[in-house]
Amino acid sequence: MPHKSPRPFPIQMEVEFLDRLSEPVREGRAESVSAIIRAALAQYDFTNVVVVHPAQLQISVRLPAATRNNLKKVSRAKHTSVGQLVRAAVEAYLPSLEVPVAPGDPALEPARAPLRKPRKGWLAFGNAGPLFRVRMSTPPPLSTWARNVSPSPTLAIDAKAKAMLAAGEDVCSFAAGEPDFDTPQFIKDAAIAALQGGKTKYAPTPGIEPLRQAIADRYAAEYGYKIAPSQVVVSPGGKYSCYLGILATCNPGDEVIIPAPYWVSYPEMVKLAGATPKFVLCDDKAGFKLTPALLKAAITPKTKLLVLNSPSNPTGAIYNRAELAALADVCVAHNLYVLADEMYEHLIYDGHQPVNFAMLGTEVEKRTITIAGFSKTYAMTGWRLGTLVAPAPIARACAELQSQMSSNATTFAQYGALAALQEKAKATAALAEMKSAFDRRRKLLHAELNKIPGVTCLLAGGAFYLFPNISGFGLKDIDFCAKLLEQEKVAVVPGSAFGAEGYLRLSYATSDEIIKKGVARLAKFCAELKK
Ligand SMILES: Cc1ncc(COP(=O)(O)O)c(C=O)c1O
Repeated sequence: MPHKSPRPFPIQMEVEFLDRLSEPVREGRAESVSAIIRAALAQYDFTNVVVVHPAQLQISVRLPAATRNNLKKVSRAKHTSVGQLVRAAVEAYLPSLEVPVAPGDPALEPARAPLRKPRKGWLAFGNAGPLFRVRMSTPPPLSTWARNVSPSPTLAIDAKAKAMLAAGEDVCSFAAGEPDFDTPQFIKDAAIAALQGGKTKYAPTPGIEPLRQAIADRYAAEYGYKIAPSQVVVSPGGKYSCYLGILATCNPGDEVIIPAPYWVSYPEMVKLAGATPKFVLCDDKAGFKLTPALLKAAITPKTKLLVLNSPSNPTGAIYNRAELAALADVCVAHNLYVLADEMYEHLIYDGHQPVNFAMLGTEVEKRTITIAGFSKTYAMTGWRLGTLVAPAPIARACAELQSQMSSNATTFAQYGALAALQEKAKATAALAEMKSAFDRRRKLLHAELNKIPGVTCLLAGGAFYLFPNISGFGLKDIDFCAKLLEQEKVAVVPGSAFGAEGYLRLSYATSDEIIKKGVARLAKFCAELKK
């Protein structure tokens, strides 16, 4: 890392630079070559940098005698030459412009024209070599995986809202993807006891035995789904479980059907597996739900997997048994795997009963990977614990993948999860308290949103999200959200982040007070837009 000089040096500098470095300029990644050099040298507090860039490289610095001496002092103190200072600065800066240079790139050829002689009274340094090496020192481009992956927009908006709150701004955030409740004390106590009892070593890759057994027991008790502990993999988060399921089933070139609006991570995980996401838009007229007809229309010979998420993030929609059974028939007929993401299975209202997709038939069970976890049900998002249940060969493959990718979920955290499953009375009470708060806020938010002229919102039956339609305002949802945050300090996530333009996702995992205040601001914002 280049070091910052202790104080600024008022240096007049003229730089003649290798023309090939103007590539980032041509590609629009930098304003000008002088901007590149100025930005690079800013780390050294050089000022008044003047840059010209003929095809040949030469850097000359004209400086008053006093500052020249100062600069020399600094370079001596840093055991380097002035030229090396500049070179280090440019070297450090170029990668941030992502200048892609592959072996054999003509940009790697050294400049051939002879160097100009430094003018009298100038301190000259550099030749084709140093800056040529600057180009060579640019690391090769990152992988396709890294360049293609999009960071989670929900986490980004949530982080921005939290930063604004921390800076003292009066933000009403509906961006959270996690319960606003703390983990129940008895779960924390169990993890603390495990830590103190020395459960600080690696655990078996697929999870500690009693937890896998408890997970198997709870599937049998809740759904009559009888599985062996060997079919259970405990992993570092439900997100990770989804990724394992996709990696275990999909090859590069395979297609994965993802109904939209979708949870933001599915497409990215599919791409990371080298497979191709195929989206099927299911709008509010369809209750945000996939139908057998839409599913059949999306299937091709390359389709390998369907991702089905009920209750849904971002819409809160839940599928009933008949709807799931009809989709299951299509999956069996076309021999598709199903990633049944049941992460929100316990956050379900209005007397609806959760349905376990795998239990819809023997042929369905053979093809289903069930994802669930502790994050949402027990307010344990930071614990990073997820579960995956699948037929034994798939579960084994997932465990083997996990053995190379993360070894195991955090050992002592698993003991907390075990308490959540074993101490049923306490767990049920904690869940009931959280659920009743969510249900109250769901109804409040739904009623308030539908009072806003131009906004329509379905009453979703699960999770802790509502997904109102704002397409009538004639504004792209992303612009709607940006303006809403800027003008009214209300943080919501645009529907387009979930593959459905024209909607907003509002999480009601927040207080009644924020809901009332935030929706009043949203109403004011919408009224302004209508003018
Ligand atoms: C639909 C869905 N699946 C899976 C997850 C992953 O949960 P976690 O990794 O926090 O256990 C989330 C989290 O937001 C989710 O919304």
